Amino acid sequence: MTEDKVTITLNGKTTECPVLIGTENEHAINIDKLREDTGFVTLDFGYKNTGATTSKITFLDGELGILRYRGYDIADLAENSNFVEVAYSLLYGELPTAAQLADFNQKLKDNSDVPAEVAAILKAMPKGTHPMAQLSAVTIALSGVYKDGAKLTEENYINMLAKFPVLVAMVIRNSQGLDFVANDKNLDYVANFLQMAFGKPASNVLVDAMDKLLILHADHEQNCSTSTVRMVGSSNANIYASITGGISALWGPLHGGANQAVLEQLEAIEKDGGDTAKFVAMAKDKNSGFRLMGFGHRVYKNFDPRAKIIKKSCDEVLKDLGVVDKKLTIAMELEQAALNDDYFVSRKLYPNVDFYSGIIYQAIGFPTDTFTTLFALGRLPGWVSQWKEMKENKEPIGRPRQIYLGAPLRSYVAVSER
Ligand code: CMC
Repeated sequence: MTEDKVTITLNGKTTECPVLIGTENEHAINIDKLREDTGFVTLDFGYKNTGATTSKITFLDGELGILRYRGYDIADLAENSNFVEVAYSLLYGELPTAAQLADFNQKLKDNSDVPAEVAAILKAMPKGTHPMAQLSAVTIALSGVYKDGAKLTEENYINMLAKFPVLVAMVIRNSQGLDFVANDKNLDYVANFLQMAFGKPASNVLVDAMDKLLILHADHEQNCSTSTVRMVGSSNANIYASITGGISALWGPLHGGANQAVLEQLEAIEKDGGDTAKFVAMAKDKNSGFRLMGFGHRVYKNFDPRAKIIKKSCDEVLKDLGVVDKKLTIAMELEQAALNDDYFVSRKLYPNVDFYSGIIYQAIGFPTDTFTTLFALGRLPGWVSQWKEMKENKEPIGRPRQIYLGAPLRSYVAVSER
């Protein structure tokens, strides 16, 4: 907080709003007392100008294309760290020592088994249920086994982090009608996940590529799914319910579901003959209802730093796997067409993280409809850390206001005799 204050006078009533300045010089007006002092509320569809919380976890500057977890640059972490280490630092605020990391890894392994009743739920779900719905169902089911999920205990967040890759792998197998693969506690987090998903040991190249993708998705400050996790948790709902809320919010194609939508779109363009100009024109036509999936972002208005890293990684993985993918050529053509088109340039629409991730996921062998579960796996440490922070800060229950535009008071008129 600074000495600065903003004075707002409305209908003759005045309120003094303190100005809060963040670590990186972000300025906010604290309107805590606005309604109490003046009777006014603010209205901000889509929260475009509204900070819902203060946080020490992730810093993002959309204009400069900066993303940092706990002060570490995303490119530095993607190049030099690993997903479990990143998860630890998101959760506890600092990178672990070697001993802390070993202990954390051991705890994750020790708590990774999924109760049989929870696994059985997957088999009972209607065939063809979307993998994100399956993942929601098994995540919320954990609350039936672990009853103290609302408490801020290490047991709770370790339990969530430890079991989630096993659940995601089971969902991926189940969606293809395949049997589950045993959880191997001799393997590390990502290697075990890939083995459980594919039923065979994963090469180091794949483990590294997957690890990097998970790091890139690990947190993204406040966004549709993360804010949902904090919102659900603010009612003192348990951690499994809160994370399930995040999974549902992530599913939509405007958020995490974009990775599935991008690949389906690239396939459709390929099937149609590969004329990218035609699809760029459609995206510009407001009446077409068509958007270029994987383009645009609410906060990144220059470039998405994650997309830059992913694009490089995509080239490397395809080369290493010997995959020649026409979709990559189409994606690059689309990117070039959009980057040189005034419609996209003037609206600051650039490829986002989901533009290239789907191509890598497909090359690794994941079915298209399971892509968003991989985003969820990456985002989990962020969700859990934000849930933990929200509870540590003792934040009040989330309860926005509204402006009512419906009918005024009217009398009931019976439409038929009773
Ligand atoms: N294709 C064509 N036009 C677009 C696109 C697009 N992908 N995205 C935005 N626009 C246009 C939009 O029509 C609007 O134009 P106008 O000002 O003339 O009305 C302008 O750009 C601003 O768009 P908006 O929808 O008001 O922006 P927003 O901040 O509310 O939405 C977004 C951001 C990501 C939902 C949107 O850009 C979009 O739908 N992108 C495609 C879906 C996508 O790739 N989502 C993944 C986001 S990254 C992963 C994650 O972190 O969730």
